[in-house]
Amino acid sequence: MSQGQRGTWGSGPGFILAATGSAVGLGNVWGFPTQVGQGGGAAFVLVYLIAVVFVCAPILLGEVLLGRYAQLGPAGAVRKIIPTGPWWVIGALAVAAGTFILSFYSVIAGWTVQYLWLAVTSGLEAGPEGATALFGDVSANGLRNIAFTGFFLAATAWCVRRGIQRGIEAASRIMMPVLFVLLVILAIRSVTLPGAGEGLAYYLRPDLSQVLDIGIIGAAVGQAFFSLSLGMGALVTYGSYLKRRQAARSPALAIVGIDTTIALLAGFIIFPAGFSIAGFDPTSGGPGLIFAVLPQLFATLPGGLIFGAAFFLLLSLAAFTSTISLLEVPVAHAFDRWNWSRSKAVLVVTLFTFAFAIPSVLSFSGVPILANLPVIGGTFFDLMVNVWNEWALPIGGMLLSLFIGWIWGKKKAGAELSLDGAGFPSPALFGFLIRFVSPAAIALLIILRIVG
Ligand code: TRP
Repeated sequence: MSQGQRGTWGSGPGFILAATGSAVGLGNVWGFPTQVGQGGGAAFVLVYLIAVVFVCAPILLGEVLLGRYAQLGPAGAVRKIIPTGPWWVIGALAVAAGTFILSFYSVIAGWTVQYLWLAVTSGLEAGPEGATALFGDVSANGLRNIAFTGFFLAATAWCVRRGIQRGIEAASRIMMPVLFVLLVILAIRSVTLPGAGEGLAYYLRPDLSQVLDIGIIGAAVGQAFFSLSLGMGALVTYGSYLKRRQAARSPALAIVGIDTTIALLAGFIIFPAGFSIAGFDPTSGGPGLIFAVLPQLFATLPGGLIFGAAFFLLLSLAAFTSTISLLEVPVAHAFDRWNWSRSKAVLVVTLFTFAFAIPSVLSFSGVPILANLPVIGGTFFDLMVNVWNEWALPIGGMLLSLFIGWIWGKKKAGAELSLDGAGFPSPALFGFLIRFVSPAAIALLIILRIVG
């Protein structure tokens, strides 16, 4: 391992800020409402919350502990604990998931930046049809989207190349609270719109017959992993930049709490507003849902344009702290494992990612083969989201929890947790959740989806 390429967080809050920055992003503000809209409303929300608490939170804590213990990213940590055997799959999956998720994530990030641009230059205020048409225009312009996606990737690469540095820590410190305040203001405005009640009912009153729908469960578990940056060792990698004496437990709980709060807030913004717009059906919104609803919500606020610009600026920055963590995983692997320099790793991974981002961009601009894939159907973009979110991340999470609970072992993992002193969860509870509850729940999900 080339120690010089690694680094450590500058300060105590550095880790919390960076890890929360990784978790909070388009997954919360774009992904969560989009998935709720496509997947059954409140039933989805309920399954999502159950998944966060019982399946994801233990894995998140486990990832951070594993990284802090090994002082290496996922592949290195696995090899340090058991040098041979099939567990290398965890590392391989991590590198692949980081790279491919980044490839479609940067496409949405590119739209976000374009909305910022539009809010500042020509304005977003448009009626229901106007807002939907605007999203159509923005997403259909292949060349422009390739440029914006490329720009976003290049900015991410530039930042990751500079290493673990205070820039991101400092930026997150200001950005996160401001984003939160803007979201709260928007949520208050949205729930007080005329007709908001219907949206609130859709969002909060679950149809219990749908809670057992395997499609909804799969999507909700996948979304929970995605939103928490889980299942591909991003938090192992970030945890590896902690010093052994720095805390892991309370930051892990804080990340789960903040990330979930922000996702729920986004739903309080999108659904009341979406249902209150005459003639608009938020349940058929697809990827354009938030882009169609938000401009109309801004239009109901005094100073709506400034508000809209601020909102898309912060959303772009939240996406940026997430793309940084996605790129950091394959890059850290390249220098931990293959001794590449940071610069070389960043360059190679970014170019590869960009190559895969292009077909995702073009899924929206009427390239027939990408808009409707042969055999599988659906767009190339949807395929990427499905494979990596709904399959790769839960599978990665299951392998990680099995590895932590059974191979690293509850004794050693528990001892690592005990370095934090006493607290919740206790090593015994943590051991139980990570050995049994999390992996069994995911295994059951996978089996049901295969037979179902
Ligand atoms: N969690 C981020 C979001 O919600 C996306 C993300 C960043 C991510 N790093 C990740 C998802 C690692 C999965 C794995 O926007």
